[in-house]
Amino acid sequence: MTEEILRKPFRLPCEVVLPNRICKTATSEHLAHPITGEPLKAMVELYRAWAEGGSGLIITGNVMVDEHLEGPGNVICRSTTPSAIWREWAEASKTCRKGSQERPVAIVQLSHPGRQSPPSVSLRRPVAPSNVPFRLPGVGIQLFRSPRTLTTEEVKALPTKFANAAALAVAAGFDGVQIHAAHGYLLSQFLSPHTNRRSDSYGGSAANRRRLLLEILAAIRIASQLLVTPWAFIERPLEPGACCLSRREGN
Ligand SMILES: Cc1cc2nc3c(=O)[nH]c(=O)nc-3n(C[C@H](O)[C@H](O)[C@H](O)COP(=O)(O)O)c2cc1C
Repeated sequence: MTEEILRKPFRLPCEVVLPNRICKTATSEHLAHPITGEPLKAMVELYRAWAEGGSGLIITGNVMVDEHLEGPGNVICRSTTPSAIWREWAEASKTCRKGSQERPVAIVQLSHPGRQSPPSVSLRRPVAPSNVPFRLPGVGIQLFRSPRTLTTEEVKALPTKFANAAALAVAAGFDGVQIHAAHGYLLSQFLSPHTNRRSDSYGGSAANRRRLLLEILAAIRIASQLLVTPWAFIERPLEPGACCLSRREGN
């Protein structure tokens, strides 16, 4: 009975149809080249195996929108033009389930770690909405350096970074993107009054704290419409703190 339900297609409110109800959630794989941030062959084969295994929805591990890293071997988006390996990764993620015509919907999770970027992966000082260090009794200081506050100009540049990363993912062949606004990373830091102590238009009220996230969603829509494809992007929440942009044919 349970298996029967899991095998049934599932129509999302944005009209994208998942071939079944099994989702491979985002899991940071750390399988990119340590210098270029390009996915490695091992990543391609891992996603092929997951797709062949029968997941109806595949969400990649967090992919970084710039050189600020969450962990070693993160994928980094550096261009809007996909390399061959990015195309292979998308194609492998959309491989049919073994022995069937069921093709998964595959989306890329885009993220920025903000203050949660360990010194072991980057000499860059982490950046955050405000200079509020990560404190977990016994581990905070050692894990992450105290962040530098982003200037207003730097915050205003973030939507373009996310939009470029989304354009890259879609041009490579993925179906859409999920914006990571949870787990204490940059966008979650903007949403929280604990980590966001800004006095400009990105801090203070709840409306101001969510402004960056909404500007990112808007920028992705605009950038993706600029792609020469007949697709439109429609925002739908998948889980609290995250948003999914999926494409729909004919718009
Ligand atoms: C190794 C590992 C890496 C993960 N990486 C991510 C990630 O990149 N992005 C994310 O949103 N969640 C990430 N998660 C969280 C998972 O997607 C999932 O939400 C979490 O494991 C809870 O699901 P579960 O109860 O089925 O394990 C990760 C989890 C694990 C175990």
